[in-house]
Amino acid sequence: MTMDLHEYIASIPDFPKPGITFRDITPLLADTKAFKFTIHELAAYAKEKGATVIVAPESRGFLLGTPMAFELGVGFVPARKPGKLPRGTVSESYTLEYGSATLEMNSDSIKPGDKVVVVDDLLATGGTIAATNKLIERLGGEVVGLAFLIELTELQGREVLKDYDIKTLLTYEGE
Ligand code: PRP
Ligand code: MG
Repeated sequence: MTMDLHEYIASIPDFPKPGITFRDITPLLADTKAFKFTIHELAAYAKEKGATVIVAPESRGFLLGTPMAFELGVGFVPARKPGKLPRGTVSESYTLEYGSATLEMNSDSIKPGDKVVVVDDLLATGGTIAATNKLIERLGGEVVGLAFLIELTELQGREVLKDYDIKTLLTYEGE
């Protein structure tokens, strides 16, 4: 079975600011068939890459990463916004279009030799996932692949992540 997932993404012009089109994944999450199809596709990719753990960044990444790990039968590890993990973390800051952001992972969450597939809803500039990859690698994990529901090709995140294998289910070229 195959599906055109574009039908389940709502495009909102000029949000959150003029000139930006927001790609809203909530209609997809609310549709049983589209959501199942999405998770099957992402999990099949992670299986093909030999993932032993799935990592996703807070918050929209969690919506895809946890069901994916559940389907695959491997563990899930979150990369969280700062100050949420109380047991000892590694931390990476990265640049956003305006300002900067930080992600943290538990220091004991990845074991040397773990094969990690990282998943997120959207690949834009690639900054979020570049930071996530650094955290995993600092902990001794191997990032064996990156999986996204949506890729905004115009922002060239693939360039930033060129050392990695990338799977995207949907692309948008511009507005
Ligand atoms: C959005 C999106 C991706 C990231 C992509 O997350 O969910 O995680 O931006 O952008 P990038 O490729 O330029 O890094 P956001 O930071 O808005 O937070 P959220 O997931 O909590 O909504
Ligand atoms: Mg996000």
